[in-house]
Amino acid sequence: MTRMCAPTKAFRRPVAALREAVAAADALLFATPEYNYSFSGVIKNAVDWLSRPPDPPLVGKPAAVLSTSPGITGGVRAQWALKPILASLGAQVLFRPEFALGDARRRFDEAGRLVDEEARARLAQLLESLVALARGG
Ligand SMILES: Cc1cc2nc3c(=O)[nH]c(=O)nc-3n(C[C@H](O)[C@H](O)[C@H](O)COP(=O)(O)O)c2cc1C
Repeated sequence: MTRMCAPTKAFRRPVAALREAVAAADALLFATPEYNYSFSGVIKNAVDWLSRPPDPPLVGKPAAVLSTSPGITGGVRAQWALKPILASLGAQVLFRPEFALGDARRRFDEAGRLVDEEARARLAQLLESLVALARGG
């Protein structure tokens, strides 16, 4: 993609730490709620920092996205806002399988554990696919 900003000479410490962690990762898993048909503004801010030159660490990085929502669509629109951005920045985005979990309030226990067996199986498929992508498969 065409770069419209000059390389940043020095990143502040939290940004530098994030960029280093992403650069060192084998793969990335983004988990987002849905706000007004899109993904979290906090994630957008992080992605913007990760996209800055020099050497933006998202380039070539295997990345999956999942979402949950108390609504029935499970945040799928948030995913479909985030995935094209990650792809345009050069990440290797896993488009299938999708994991969008609706009716989320009934799928977790009080400790925040996912207790819905069908959802756990679908989540396992997503993670296995991400591992396969990271291994070049
Ligand atoms: C401003 C706002 C917009 C929201 N928009 C959506 C939406 O478009 N789709 C959806 O499924 N849920 C939507 N929700 C519900 C959130 O997904 C839900 O509140 C989620 O649990 C986020 O956590 P929080 O409420 O602790 O921020 C919205 C919530 C808020 C506060």
